[in-house]
Amino acid sequence: MSDKKETIKDIYDRLQGIEDEELQEKYITIILTLLEKGYFPGLAGIPVVKSRVSKVDGENGVLTYRGYKATELAQHYSYEDVCFLLLHEDLPLPEEREKLCKRFMDNKEIDPSVARTLVAMDDNLHPMNVLSAGVLNLQGPDKTAREVLDYNQNMKRSIRLIAKFPSIIGVFRSNDPDYASGRDFDTFAEYILYSFNPELSEKKEWVDMFEELLILHADHTLNNSTFSARAVGSAQASLYSSISSAINSLSGPLHGGANERVIEMLADIDSPADVEKYVDHKLERKEKIMGVGHRVYKTYDPRAIYIKENMLPVLFNGKEVKASGVTEELQEQYEIAQKLEEVVLDRLGPKRIYPNVDFWSGLVLRAMGIEPSFFTTIFALGRIMGWCAHWVEHMEVTNKIYRPTQLYDGFEERELLVGPESEN
Ligand code: COA
Repeated sequence: MSDKKETIKDIYDRLQGIEDEELQEKYITIILTLLEKGYFPGLAGIPVVKSRVSKVDGENGVLTYRGYKATELAQHYSYEDVCFLLLHEDLPLPEEREKLCKRFMDNKEIDPSVARTLVAMDDNLHPMNVLSAGVLNLQGPDKTAREVLDYNQNMKRSIRLIAKFPSIIGVFRSNDPDYASGRDFDTFAEYILYSFNPELSEKKEWVDMFEELLILHADHTLNNSTFSARAVGSAQASLYSSISSAINSLSGPLHGGANERVIEMLADIDSPADVEKYVDHKLERKEKIMGVGHRVYKTYDPRAIYIKENMLPVLFNGKEVKASGVTEELQEQYEIAQKLEEVVLDRLGPKRIYPNVDFWSGLVLRAMGIEPSFFTTIFALGRIMGWCAHWVEHMEVTNKIYRPTQLYDGFEERELLVGPESEN
């Protein structure tokens, strides 16, 4: 038998020998995709790194951070706990949690030079662009930001960056570099909510709900933005450059930007009676329904279930408005969303396409009086914990710069006409 034939037989034997059926299926899909297409569109299903931060079981709808269910962490733990867990791999002791909270508070102020640029930014700029530009600007005052290979410094820098993250939005929204001066905060989640809605941040029940939402968004394996952070980090660019890229990725409507688009979509539908027509029209035209579908989940997104079952019933109750921030218009949007969910499950459920976290989160944020253009920044304020954990982890792995290849589909080499005969 020739060498090639032996290798092919070896591949066959190895595939046969894999006991884990799911893994076996994954490898077969990868090989078949390569044979059929010659490349991997969207890198779907291609593992590019070994990571310990989080895990998604897409078949059963389970998301874990360092082994703990994200939904249980959201229900029982704080932002500081989850941040500590994602960065250090274990939940903190009470004194460690307090210390982290103090470090956030001590580091939340942003340098006056950066604050000035935020105040000067065009009010029409999308808040995600402001956040991304703000993070890049934070590199200015950090003189050692380009040194990326020191684990302890990377951890410290991550905490400082997380602490300053809400302040970028707070300064931009209020046009005031000192927007939080003279106010004490018990928890970091309270400070984050203050940056969006000072009045609401005084009420514990709202801070708690907001904190749950942040924790649900804290990490989600190698999604597009985390991939971006790691890809930029693999070139040994700074934490600021990597996180700024992640923010830009998250802003896209197929990723975190979907939560803003969902509320726009609900506003476009006049009443629950119009939902079926709306969905069918979209599907006929092969257009996407926002807040629906997922690359990994083949069942209902557990984060979406959590919001739907634990948060929305507190805010809305049938036709009775329960929370002060819920206007009649929002109540109607909730009813439209419920009908939309029903129609989506009917039309797309058989294709294993379900509502995702962005489908329901906007209704909660709207009830908190937060403008839709700021929704994705709140997603980012949760996800920054995961981005930093992945980036720090990436700086520790045996690094190979991310550099996939392409299937060239353009012209073969062509002759340029040069010289007098080419001039007309
Ligand atoms: N509405 C209608 N159809 C959808 C859909 C949606 N939101 N999401 C996926 N589909 C359909 C596609 O039309 C396609 O159908 P086809 O096989 O008949 O052509 C099939 O499902 C696969 O879709 P595809 O876009 O290739 O899947 P993906 O894994 O690449 O994409 C998303 C995943 C999230 C990008 C995609 O579901 C989407 O764009 N959703 C809407 C945006 C969104 O909510 N993003 C937030 C994600 S948390």
